[in-house]
Amino acid sequence: MADSGILTLHFPDPDIAVLTFDDPRKGANVLSSTVLAELERHLDELEKRVGLRGLILRSGKPGSFIAGADLREFAASFDAPREQILAMCHRGRKLFARLSQFSAVTIAAIDGICVGGGAELAIWCDRRILTVDAKTQFGFPEVKLGLFPGWGGTARASRIVGLGNAVEMVTSGESIDAKMAAAMGLANDTVSADDAPVDAKASPGSKAPTAAGPTLADRLLEAAVRMVQAEAASSDYLADRKRWAGPIVESETELGFLGATASGYIQSQTGGHYPAPLAALEVMLGAAGLPLDAACDQEAEGMAGLFGTPVNRALINVFFLTDHNKKDQGVDRPGVVPRPVKSVSVIGAGIMGAGIASANLRRQVPVAVTDASEPALAEGVRHVLEEVSYNKQTKGPDAERAIRFAPLLNATVSDTEIARADLVIEAVVENLDVKKKLYARLEPLLGADAVLASNTSTIQITKLAQGLKHPDRFIGIHFFNPVRKMLLVEVIRGRETSDETVATAVAYAKSIGKSPIVVHDGPGFLVNRLLFPYLNESLELLTEGASIKAIERAATDFGMPMGPLALYDMVGLDTSVYAGRVMWEAFPDRTGASPILPAMVKAGRLGQKSGRGFFLYRDKKGRCEPDPALADWLATYRRGERKISSDEITTRLLLPMVLEATRILEAKLVRDVRDVDLGVIFGLGFPPFRGGLLYWADTLGAAKIVERLKPFEALGPRLQPTPLLLEMAASGKKFYDQIKTKPR
Ligand code: NAI
Repeated sequence: MADSGILTLHFPDPDIAVLTFDDPRKGANVLSSTVLAELERHLDELEKRVGLRGLILRSGKPGSFIAGADLREFAASFDAPREQILAMCHRGRKLFARLSQFSAVTIAAIDGICVGGGAELAIWCDRRILTVDAKTQFGFPEVKLGLFPGWGGTARASRIVGLGNAVEMVTSGESIDAKMAAAMGLANDTVSADDAPVDAKASPGSKAPTAAGPTLADRLLEAAVRMVQAEAASSDYLADRKRWAGPIVESETELGFLGATASGYIQSQTGGHYPAPLAALEVMLGAAGLPLDAACDQEAEGMAGLFGTPVNRALINVFFLTDHNKKDQGVDRPGVVPRPVKSVSVIGAGIMGAGIASANLRRQVPVAVTDASEPALAEGVRHVLEEVSYNKQTKGPDAERAIRFAPLLNATVSDTEIARADLVIEAVVENLDVKKKLYARLEPLLGADAVLASNTSTIQITKLAQGLKHPDRFIGIHFFNPVRKMLLVEVIRGRETSDETVATAVAYAKSIGKSPIVVHDGPGFLVNRLLFPYLNESLELLTEGASIKAIERAATDFGMPMGPLALYDMVGLDTSVYAGRVMWEAFPDRTGASPILPAMVKAGRLGQKSGRGFFLYRDKKGRCEPDPALADWLATYRRGERKISSDEITTRLLLPMVLEATRILEAKLVRDVRDVDLGVIFGLGFPPFRGGLLYWADTLGAAKIVERLKPFEALGPRLQPTPLLLEMAASGKKFYDQIKTKPR
């Protein structure tokens, strides 16, 4: 078989071989079966060479070593028999193990992301050198995909960095940086950009080759060559080879302690929904006392047990959703070019305005902020500076960081200064007249290419655009609260919004680290429209006699981060009444107007903000307890005391969301099912281990969903199958069939 040209070999010295990974067709190197076969052929050749003193593995892509195994190949093998998965593990491990038995020292020279299979490849080398750079991350994120490393990663890591460190890395799936890697003994040396002579003309931190000196990649290679020479002279690596091939020396007490503390922590983090971290812990503890080879065999057995399980499949779907989102421009028409956004203005310095301004500053985008009220503006600026200067180590604002960010922030009351930005985001009170008056005043001052956006959560974009001279450059950019934590941004196109404006909003949202999904205008847009059936049904269940505890329990057992009633309390019952009215007006056939919420608002039960809602709140952090006074009060609204099973509660909370999603698809409000699933995961905390709302629906199948709805059909359209669902039930089609025929 001919080489694919991804790996190239060169010899900086006649006795030092350098193997460079660089897939010309991809932004990041991944370990596909083609790449592994090519590595195998190179090792076959190199092992025949006499007199080599060292082999260096590196990447030709600055800031990216190897991003892991090829997950599309994994997904294609989901249904393969267990023996085939075991064979895949053995093949990869045996190949990588040749690096630990090679005729000379082997060194991984790592600049940039080195995760998953890439980290396994590196950990089979005798030595590792990492660049000290923000992009350089070393880790085993497999548990986030419902797996753990299966090419010897757990066994090798345990022997090199110690069992405790390895358990933490593998079971958390979190990456470490070069400094941490050096402290653990995982990196044997580090190289930083500051070591390199800086060309006066180059921008700070530039990795471009300069006339004055070597790049970071050159420095890394030089350090690796020096390490080959030192190791060839000392032969220290040979002693390590021997040590790492054997068992780990840990007493039973140490193992017992590690097992108890780690499993307790993992249970608290995963809520029992993610089996991979505990399975990894079990394998790592169980194999600690074995020689390396036998430990690797156990690892492969464990990995094969997780491969293709429902959680593994669902999590890989989530990976594909996010990967697709990163590449998606937001419009289907080819050739649409987003306009550059180099400066942003935010109008309204309240909760959302301050959050949006901070998100920009954190990515070094200059921001002008204004507010109709000067005290509100001052308070908003204080919030922004507090947020961007937050120091994780000291858990408080950091004066030095505040001084660094302050010049990028312009607090102003001048419309002219606000209108100067490439993108102006309005986040003032939720009032149609106030917003429209503001646009009328501002639009004439905007630049010819500037985009005007609203962060409205309930007012339709097309309605807001009425009266504008350039509705094509008006759009919704709906951030979620708190902006700092919430990755999702809904980009809402009004009837006249242009493709360029959509692409600009999408590119901008990505540039500040968010995941944008594009939605057509409509009541509740996407996320709130899907949320309402869920919230609405919880009130219906409450009225029919379900207990608060049972409702919340059913939702969290399903995997939702909180129950619907706790969510009401978090959003605020007054806000919920207002937003609920919008949905009720739009969809009266399926949105109940429960009297419970308005009555609670009247009684001052606003949720967390007033200290009581469906729960009693002890502090601002949302710690709560049941409110004994509520039962009597709710009794007035109960229609009965029927014992309602948790199955019924789950069905009635979740399936109306699926039905609403089918209506959204029928109306083509999103471009495909992936937007729905990413929206619910990032916007509502829908459990990733279920793969997304429609992915989960596919695991049930439309026919089964129709059957599960049957007993509740008398309750009205909100629980009756839609035409799309009935058609799918009849034909056996799945929601995800759509993307098999329409790759984007
Ligand atoms: P807020 O009440 O915290 O802040 C609104 C700010 O706008 C106030 O400081 C007020 O003085 C200012 N303002 C009012 N009229 C103005 C005008 N004509 N010109 C300049 N400033 C003016 O409100 P919040 O929560 O930040 O909401 C802002 C927008 O974001 C609303 O459209 C809301 O629907 C939307 N939104 C809110 C979310 C939330 O959870 N709070 C989530 C997503 C969107």
